[in-house]
Formats: sequence, structure tokens, C-alpha cells
Amino acid sequence: MNKFEYGHETSQRLNSGDLFKQFNNYRISKYITDMLLRLNKTDLVHYKVLEPGCGSGNKLRFFTELRIEPENCYGLDSSEVAIELCKKLSPASMNFQVGSALDMPYDDNTFDLSVCSGLFGCFNEDEDVEALIAQLHRVLKRNGVLFIIDLNENFNDMYASSEAVMAKNLRSYNSQNQELQQLLSDRFKNVATIPIIASESYGNQQGNAAGVADLPYIDHRIDSGNWACAYSMWVFYNN
Ligand SMILES: C[S@@+](CC[C@H](N)C(=O)[O-])C[C@H]1O[C@@H](n2cnc3c(N)ncnc32)[C@H](O)[C@@H]1O
Repeated sequence: MNKFEYGHETSQRLNSGDLFKQFNNYRISKYITDMLLRLNKTDLVHYKVLEPGCGSGNKLRFFTELRIEPENCYGLDSSEVAIELCKKLSPASMNFQVGSALDMPYDDNTFDLSVCSGLFGCFNEDEDVEALIAQLHRVLKRNGVLFIIDLNENFNDMYASSEAVMAKNLRSYNSQNQELQQLLSDRFKNVATIPIIASESYGNQQGNAAGVADLPYIDHRIDSGNWACAYSMWVFYNN
């Protein structure tokens, strides 16, 4: 565990990582909500949403807070353990399925929204990324909105000292040189790219773990471009 106890995934006990996780989720949810309002995608009670690579399903559950019906939420993951966890943590009417994001078990033009959080980083081969993009284009409706939350150009520097993270061999995408935008350009139009979460850099100016009083300052610095984030959110329209 690092000096700020960022270990909520494995720890049995509440620690400062849990506070940062809440803060990360707040930043993700405020920007998803902001983008839906700005894109005039507000009729959420009629929308279907898909999260491929849903992990524990927490992003999908967030969409129910925006009035998406649980039965219109779909989660797909290649891990049986993840899908079992989703079923345990979510309303029974949500739809969860074990399967591959590279060959999705859904009809064409099914979803109004999709969120991929940490999924693009799982694929090191361009042909897999292309297959994922083709599947997202196929299952999303025209003008459907795709949120991608993933590692950016700061990832390697920020995590270089963490052997456990580097051993995962994750792919990152440069948000400055339009890397992801280029990969999606045949099918999707980029409407925003936002620095989203800084993860392990949540120290305060005294070098201690940030407390809740520090978070507005960090929030402001991230939003004003003065705090390096390892994750960005890319927002696309399906063309
Ligand atoms: C970094 S985790 C992110 C989980 C969740 N989206 C979140 O934000 O907390 C990536 C997830 O993608 C899943 N995954 C990896 N490759 C996949 C594939 N080909 N098809 C479906 N899911 C996949 C993994 O099992 C894992 O649950």
C-alpha cells in the first residue's frame, strides 16, 4: 500500500482510499450529468445504457440515479466473478451477462448511452481496440453517447513506481495528441475530453493524505488544468 493508503479494493477496513474513491465517483458523475445536460440527452427515463467491462457495476448503478430504469441497464463482463458481484450489489431487474466486449450479445442500435470505464486500457492490440469500437458503433443508436474513462499520457509517470500496477501491462491513451479520437474517428465524433481523476496524487500541501477539506481545492485545480490526472473522460457521439 502506498503512503496514502490507497487500497480500498483489497482492504477490509475503511481508509483514505475510500474517501478518494468517493471523490473520483463525484467527479465522474458530475461530468456525466453535465455532458448529458449540454448534449440535451435528458429523456433518461426512456434510455437504455450499456457498460461493457462493467466490473462491479457501480457506473451502471449511478445511471439509475439519473432516472434510467434498472431494467434498461445492461452490464457485460468477461469475468464470471465480476458478474456475480454485480448481481449481488444491484437491483434484481438490471441485466448482467458474462461475455466479450469484442463480440457483444446485443442487437444493432439498442443503446442510447454507453460507458466504458477502464475497458480500453485492457487491450494492447490495435485490432482488439478496433473490434471494440466497431461493436460499440453497432450496438449504440445513431447519436448515442459514448463515455470512455481511461488512462491518459500521465499514467506511466504517475504509476512508474507501482510494480503491481505496471505488471498489469495496461494501455494508456494520449489525450493531448488525439490518440483515441483518431482511433474512433471513422465512427464517432469527439465532443469533449476532460481530465477526470488523479488517483494516487491525492496528497495535500503538507504531504499527508488529503482530507475532505482539501478536496474542493483539488477539484478546482483539476478543473482549471493545474493538477495532473492519470485518467481522462472522452465523450463521443455515434455518427
Ligand atoms: C479496470 S476494470 C473496470 C471495471 C469497471 N468498469 C469500473 O470502472 O470499475 C476492467 C473490466 O473489464 C473487463 N474486461 C476485460 N476484457 C474484457 C472483454 N474482452 N470483454 C468484457 N469485459 C472485459 C474485466 O474483467 C474488468 O472487470
